[in-house]
Amino acid sequence: MRHCQRKDAVLPFSRMIKIAPSILAADFANFGAECRAIEAQGADWVHVDVMDGHFVPNLTFGPTMCASLRPHIKGVMDVHLMIAPVDPYLEAFASAGADIITAHVEAGPHIHRTLQAIRSLGKKAGVALNPGTPVEAVAGLLDMVDLICVMTVNPGFGGQGFISGQLPKIVELRRLIGDRPVLIEVDGGVTVATAPLVAKAGADVLVAGSAVFKGGSVSDPATYGVNIRAIRAAAVAAVG
Ligand code: DX5
Ligand code: ZN
Repeated sequence: MRHCQRKDAVLPFSRMIKIAPSILAADFANFGAECRAIEAQGADWVHVDVMDGHFVPNLTFGPTMCASLRPHIKGVMDVHLMIAPVDPYLEAFASAGADIITAHVEAGPHIHRTLQAIRSLGKKAGVALNPGTPVEAVAGLLDMVDLICVMTVNPGFGGQGFISGQLPKIVELRRLIGDRPVLIEVDGGVTVATAPLVAKAGADVLVAGSAVFKGGSVSDPATYGVNIRAIRAAAVAAVG
């Protein structure tokens, strides 16, 4: 229940553009310092990519790592689960202090149940769509999600090229969402060049790994700030 109160404090609904650096591109030997550095340099959320080597062809970290990171993140911990099955692990990620838990619509036959479970744990519920999945897959879920994550790369790795064919999907989702309090997050290949495209299409939250961490380090965190400000400025300029 403590987490429930915290969520309301840090997550009021707002469609202002948010930049969510993915720590998949951080120094894996320095996660605590990296999280503190990106927040100090203007990150709105911290995006945590959980991979299981089964749903996606890569392995990262689990709930214990998230719990260890929690004290180093003052704001929103945005946990993107690229795992299957997902339901047996929801409670562990909730206890680890995630504010938003996002599951993939392709990760199992019972996404509706998964989203109910996330909300019943007092967390914001997100659903993610792989590039090959059409928007119709989430049309029946719009009243039970707080966030829809549109993957603009095939999930599993950072540093991949942006799939521009996903832009019409973002436009269509924005139309379907209407005036519901649901955020659109875009994840994969977001850079200064692609941020205006996704913002114009209707994205609210821009996940960026490589484009935020490139050129910087915990001993040169100012570069993170330069990168974050450049991405934000490009997105905001596109939507006016
Ligand atoms: C991909 C992850 C992304 C990724 C983004 O599976 O979900 O969050 O880290 O990295 P970039 O911004 O480098 O494409
Ligand atoms: Zn992600």
